[in-house]
Amino acid sequence: MVTGSGGLIGSESVHFFCSLGFTVIGIDNNMRQVFFGEDGSTDWNQKRLLESYGERYIHHNVDIRDLKKITKIIDGKDIVFHLAAIVGVEETQLSPWEVLDVEVGGTMNIINAAAHAKVKKLIFGSSSEVYGDSEAAMHEDSKLAPRSTYAAAKLIGEEYCKAAQHEFGLNFTILRYFNIYGPRQDQRFVISRFIEKIIADEIITIYGDGKQTRDFTYIDDAITMTMLAATSDISNCQILNIGTEKSTSINDLLNTITSVMNKKNSIIKNFVEYDNIRSKEIEVFNRTASIAKFKTLLNYEPLTSLETGINNLVKFYQP
Ligand SMILES: NC(=O)c1ccc[n+]([C@@H]2O[C@H](COP(=O)([O-])OP(=O)(O)OC[C@H]3O[C@@H](n4cnc5c(N)ncnc54)[C@H](O)[C@@H]3O)[C@@H](O)[C@H]2O)c1
Repeated sequence: MVTGSGGLIGSESVHFFCSLGFTVIGIDNNMRQVFFGEDGSTDWNQKRLLESYGERYIHHNVDIRDLKKITKIIDGKDIVFHLAAIVGVEETQLSPWEVLDVEVGGTMNIINAAAHAKVKKLIFGSSSEVYGDSEAAMHEDSKLAPRSTYAAAKLIGEEYCKAAQHEFGLNFTILRYFNIYGPRQDQRFVISRFIEKIIADEIITIYGDGKQTRDFTYIDDAITMTMLAATSDISNCQILNIGTEKSTSINDLLNTITSVMNKKNSIIKNFVEYDNIRSKEIEVFNRTASIAKFKTLLNYEPLTSLETGINNLVKFYQP
């Protein structure tokens, strides 16, 4: 079962298991439509899955805050991937209380229902945001310093997984994702947004000086790492970073995108100050993963370079 099955990581997780012949139950309230109008384009992940897998993909249009429905759906499931969340800096700043309601209340529902249904494993989609800002590479034992309600809520979810293990014997793996990107990600996220702006010949807005760094991880690598963690006992009750160990500034990211798109000399950049939509207080200026633990336990390293990943996205937007 996958919560957030209409999202980037959720829909690719469904795709992975369905394509192997498993039946997957998806839960999503399709809330992203709230942000992206009513033209129907935002539920393309759900449509693609329903059209591709027929009866092997069963979608429930349910909110994870609805404990009664969640309890019923989780009963009898093997592995639960909990990936539903309100994601994106702007959205989480605009509605911090809803973020807490979904991330804490909804997550507690999923954890409680999974523990009582005695599922084999719960995968909890946490975030690199729990580390806050750090010039050093972030490893799983690094200091935790959340800078936003979203990050604090993720940390509560992590702690609740551990408590449920202690109290009810829940088996879990916590995955801290670092900037996952890929086709079908919407324009809240920087890579998709830059590509769409370049295609539309629009001005590219960059907050601050563009020197802030991120660890951009291509969806195929993130899914392989997620599935390795989900299907191996060695990751039981562990926390694992999902990243690449490569740090890229927003300026360098834009350079890479414009060079892949052959648009180096024809874009207009606008550097803007942080504001109340994107505040400086919660900005993370340096972020790079250490995935030493993942490599040691599960013997995998991401394979997709940033250039290749961007090339795939450009082909997706401009077939
Ligand atoms: N993409 C990243 O870079 C990244 C980084 C760190 C952590 N994560 C975490 O990984 C998970 C998946 O991220 P994603 O990139 O696929 O996000 P996404 O926004 O693409 O997908 C999230 C999905 O959750 C659904 N959802 C939101 N609130 C819900 C609710 N109350 N009930 C049911 N469904 C609800 C949304 O409709 C959406 O389809 C999230 O938990 C996110 O916090 C992602």
